[in-house]
Amino acid sequence: MLETLNVWVDTIGFLLAAGIVIGFIVPHFIASVLTGRVKKHFVDDYWDSLAHRMHDPKQFHYKQPIGPDFPQPIRVWHWVNLVSWMILLISGLYIRYPWFSGGREVMRNAHYFFMYLITINLILRFAYLYFAKNWRDYLTFDKTDISWGISVARYYTFTGPPYDHLKKFNPLQRPAYPAIWAMLILQAFTGFIIWQPAVGGLFSGIFGGPADMAAWMRLVHNINMRFMVALVTIHSYLGSMEDFPVLKVFWFWKEPDLTKYEHEHGDEAHQEPKLEIDESTGSATPSH
Ligand code: HEM
Repeated sequence: MLETLNVWVDTIGFLLAAGIVIGFIVPHFIASVLTGRVKKHFVDDYWDSLAHRMHDPKQFHYKQPIGPDFPQPIRVWHWVNLVSWMILLISGLYIRYPWFSGGREVMRNAHYFFMYLITINLILRFAYLYFAKNWRDYLTFDKTDISWGISVARYYTFTGPPYDHLKKFNPLQRPAYPAIWAMLILQAFTGFIIWQPAVGGLFSGIFGGPADMAAWMRLVHNINMRFMVALVTIHSYLGSMEDFPVLKVFWFWKEPDLTKYEHEHGDEAHQEPKLEIDESTGSATPSH
């Protein structure tokens, strides 16, 4: 039965990966080109999120630089996670489908080394979440998130204008981070049981013994890997297409020049009122 399930997982996993690329990324990219978003962002270097940040007091951290939104430990954490995750993915895929000969020892050792590193990194991430007390950025939702979430979804489906940035993360993006943590926990848990079946302890009885438990965990490890790849692919694509200036701060410590937006207007909805100055009294009144 496990053998049949493994074949199904490979087949569905392949279809899922192809579906994400053909069904989401390619059409979304084509629509972004046709609607002028690619040109606006990557040719004109104009980002609505930055314009909003400079012109609309209700935006998250109005007129502030982006850097302080991302504390240094989180940036380091993300790099360690990213590199470890990529190496675990490549070495794991090789363990499953050895696509060249002679690499088994290197790939297994790489998987074993980075599985410790990513697990320690994850534990440190939770420690930081606890001590920095910023779990609310990721784990709380309220009523305002409903209408905001709809405007985010409309923007990404090309049926609405650029959306607001009212909190650190928008309501569609926010659950992605706890989802990644949960998936990493599951991956570590299943991985350590594959490696040392005795880790399963008393629970192995449910599966018919440690060896059977390890075989089932290998299946779960593999399924979870597919979901992680799907989530990480979408996360990376949208992060690059829509939030590149933030990505440059987060990855390369490179702050965008927000002063550039000081004299620009953002979209109509986010303009500050124009002021008419009375020369004699010096008083200013909004003009419409
Ligand atoms: C988080 C900690 C992780 C641990 C403890 C872990 C552990 C393991 C172990 C022990 C194996 C079996 C290696 C062997 O047969 O020599 C394995 C296989 C594998 N791992 Fe991981 N791993 C982890 C993370 C990851 C991640 C993040 C990915 C991918 C994104 C991944 C993908 C794979 C794949 C595709 C296989 C092959 C599974 C198969 O043969 O069906 N692993 N892992």
